Amino acid sequence: MIGRLNHVAIAVPNLASAVLLYQQTLGAEVSPPLPQPDHGVTVVFIQLPNTKIELLEPLGETSPITKFLERNPDGGIHHICYEVEDILAARERLRGEGARVLGDGEPKIGAHGKPVLFLHPKDFNGTLIELEQI
Ligand code: CO
Repeated sequence: MIGRLNHVAIAVPNLASAVLLYQQTLGAEVSPPLPQPDHGVTVVFIQLPNTKIELLEPLGETSPITKFLERNPDGGIHHICYEVEDILAARERLRGEGARVLGDGEPKIGAHGKPVLFLHPKDFNGTLIELEQI
């Protein structure tokens, strides 16, 4: 059911220094920062030949990544995103398998303008999984 790896998202405490690390140390192409108030994060996108990396910095008082950064002050891998062709069919299949979909279970429009859902990390080996309909 799942398709390609769409991106790996890394929460960072300081976006400017993370951008420098990826640009200068790792030699990657990094997009300008994109504030996403609806999601409580500022994001930069790093396009690699076979996938993307997203660096996430908290935005606002109630960012969903604040707690994660309290537990991981240096930053860390926050979630990975797999592509699916039909997000509602994927949701029904996963629920049938006993997996928990986060929030109200309705797809939201994600960072790329496509519908996304998140799956409970406790059901997936401690990994927060995002599904994105392509
Ligand atoms: Co994501």
